[in-house]
Order: sequence, then structure tokens, then C-alpha cells
Amino acid sequence: MQIDARLQEGIAAHRNGNLEAAQDAYLDVLKADPDHADGLHFLGLLHFDAGHADNAIALIRKSLEQNSANASALNNLGNILKISGQPSDALQAYAKAVELEPRHEEAWSNINVLLRAATHNDDLLPILTEIVRLDPDNPEAWHNYGLSLMLAGHKDEAADALERCLAFGTEVYADPVWHARVLCALGRQERALEHLEKIVEADPENEVARYQLAAVRGDELDHAPEDYVKSHFDKFSATFDDVLKGLGYRAPELVAEEVGTLAANTNERFEDVVDLGCGTGLCGPLIRDHCGKLTGIDLSPGMLKKAAALKAYDFLVEGELVAFLESDLPTRFDLAVCVDTLCYLGNLQPFMTALHKAMKPGAVLIASVEHLSGPSTEDFRVDSTGRYAHTPSYLRRCAEAASLSYVKDKTVTLRHELGKEVHGLIFYVQKPRVSNV
Ligand SMILES: C[S@@+](CC[C@H](N)C(=O)[O-])C[C@H]1O[C@@H](n2cnc3c(N)ncnc32)[C@H](O)[C@@H]1O
Repeated sequence: MQIDARLQEGIAAHRNGNLEAAQDAYLDVLKADPDHADGLHFLGLLHFDAGHADNAIALIRKSLEQNSANASALNNLGNILKISGQPSDALQAYAKAVELEPRHEEAWSNINVLLRAATHNDDLLPILTEIVRLDPDNPEAWHNYGLSLMLAGHKDEAADALERCLAFGTEVYADPVWHARVLCALGRQERALEHLEKIVEADPENEVARYQLAAVRGDELDHAPEDYVKSHFDKFSATFDDVLKGLGYRAPELVAEEVGTLAANTNERFEDVVDLGCGTGLCGPLIRDHCGKLTGIDLSPGMLKKAAALKAYDFLVEGELVAFLESDLPTRFDLAVCVDTLCYLGNLQPFMTALHKAMKPGAVLIASVEHLSGPSTEDFRVDSTGRYAHTPSYLRRCAEAASLSYVKDKTVTLRHELGKEVHGLIFYVQKPRVSNV
């Protein structure tokens, strides 16, 4: 038997989804040579495809003992470790991959996702320091090096590294949201502005960069433009669930817990429910059992496509949520949830007024917002990422001005990001049972 030919047969069968034939071929290879590095690697991937992640990790590690210089195997090992909930080991595997192959794009992008959610990276920083020294024309290395320095608390060096990365041009790593956020957090507002202006000049139709620029410049904006939200979330939809999981995002669970408690207290299901800004549908399955009919509404078709795949919603509507609540609806709602979406609306008065119109008497809204606290006298504030935070007193004022009762709120941690907790509020408003409208 020609070992290499048999291995190629296995790979071809594997690609075509014929796992049995692939397994036979890989086992033949390993029978002839039990230490065959590629045979072990591909058999590991096959085990992963068959749902046996632990076997996959063991086989790929064994393969790497035979050939430690296989960047793809290291990247694959990182992916499986990440999915198996072992982010530190995954980060180490990706780091070894880029050490071997400094232009391994996939491994860099994986490092980026993990670093954004990490709280420390002591093992990685020396490796990245060495890589930027050896490969100074590598924007992805500078980007992750900057992020790594920031996590280690070296603010100035981090800002220098990110500026270096931006010098490669607006088409490289032109993620205006992220870079603007980080440069502002590092005290380099001017540089963030300059970068955003360049992107807008090169691409005047870029809604994301235009809004970001307005937010960093401090322009008076009372909500994020629809085009911006749509374009940002359409692009983000493929990785949204993964990225948010990495950030310890808990808002859907926190809102669903409140829904569960309310359902238990009233001992009934909510007949008509709407999830405002449902996104990829993280909240839908968590509240489904408490709902008669569940409708999701969102501006982003990309996010809605993901939500549709969950089969948790009876209706999914593409549209702007305030306009939807104001429209001539076929039914009014018993319950509305709104998770991590009001951060794209600053002025909440139109929302509360429209909500009152769309709710049945006695209906409830349970929603999350980012918490604006401290000495400021503002009701809401937009940060350099274009996300709004609100004060609880403002939420109460808007609700009451729309003839809704502000029942309660509680402070929570919504997620963590760049090593810090993001504080939020879960609040609860109700339309009075006896209402004039
Ligand atoms: C951060 S995501 C949260 C998604 C989901 N609620 C969750 O918790 O996973 C915010 C979502 O709100 C949607 N959104 C923002 N502003 C909106 C608006 N004015 N009308 C409808 N959807 C909006 C976005 O498209 C995005 O899908």
C-alpha cells in the first residue's frame, strides 16, 4: 500500500462527508505506520467531526509529538480546544502556529478573538514581542501585540503598537469600531479621529465608520442610524454568538431569568410576546416555554437569518423596532423583551411611547441597558464605540412620561471586555391594567 496515496483517499472521502471511508483509510495509514503524523492529525479531525472532541485533542497532540512544525495542526488543535472551553490552551496552540508561520491569517484572527475576551496573557506577550521583532511588516502581529500589551497594562506601548498597525493603511484591519474604541481607551482620541477620517474619506459610503467618527467627535446624536446598525450587525452576524460567548455575555440569560420569575409568579404563559432587537435569537429559546406566539424583530437580515435557524420564533420581522411598535400591528403584546439593543437608542422617549401603544393593559417590558452612573448630569451618553448607556432615573422618567409604571431595576454585569466588566441594568416597566388607550 502506498501510504501517501491512501491518506489522500481518506482526505478526499472526508471532504465529501463520507466519514466511514475516511476512517478506514486513516486507520490503514496508521496500521502501516502508527506514528504517521498526518494520519494522526486527520483521524483527530475526523473524531472531532464525529463529536468526540477529547479523542480529537489527544490524536492531534500525538501528531504534533511526531511533527511539531505543523502550523495547520496547531491551528486546528486551537479551534477544538476553544470549542471545548479551554481558551488558555487554545491561545497557546495558536501562538505556536504563528511562531512557526508568522503570516498564518487564520491563527492570527483566532488569537484576536481570544485576546479580546482574555483577562491576562502573560505567556503570549513574549512570543508576540519576538514575532514583531522578526517580522516588522506584519500588521496582524502588531494588532495582536498591541492588544496583548494593553491586557498586560502597558498603555503607552499598546497605543504605539496599534498606531504602527494603522500605519499599514486603512484597508488593512480597517475595523473602525474596534480601533476607535481601543485608541480612545488608551487616550489617543486624536489618532482615532484621524484614522476614522481617513476611512471615511476613502469610502464615504461606509456608514459604520461615519457613525463611529460622529461618536468619537462627540456630535449630538440621539440614536445610531439604521444604516449603521444594519451594516454593522450584518457583518458581525457570522461571529456574533462566538464572540459574545467569549466575552461572558449574560444579558439574554439575565432577562430570561426575570421572565421565568414573572411567569412563575403569575402562573401563566404570555400569549403574545415580542423580542425587540432579537439579533441571532439568543433569548428566544430561553423564554420560548413561557410564550404562546413569539415574534422577533430586528434591523439586520444577517442576524435574523441566524435567528430563523433556531426555529424558536413564530414570526421574524425585518424592521426598525420603534416604527414596528408604532405600526398597525395585528396584535398587541403581553410581554416584550429587549436585550442589549437599547444601547443603539439614546433618546428613549419615542420607544417608551410606541411601546405603550403596542402593549396590552397589564403587559410588561423586561429589558437590559448599559448603566450610566457616576457624577454626570446626563441622562444618556454615547461612548466612542457608538453604544449608549442610560441612567435609571432617565429610564423611569421616560416610562412615566409614556404612562408606563417603572416597576424595578437591578444592577448586573452584562459581559466583560478588554479585561473590564461592563455594568448594566435589567429593568422592568408595566402598562397599567386600567389604561385609557
Ligand atoms: C447587541 S445585539 C443583541 C441581540 C440580541 N438581543 C442578543 O441579546 O443577543 C443588538 C441587536 O439589535 C438590533 N437593533 C439595534 N437597533 C435596532 C433598532 N432600532 N430596531 C431594530 N433592531 C435594532 C441590531 O441589529 C442587533 O441585532
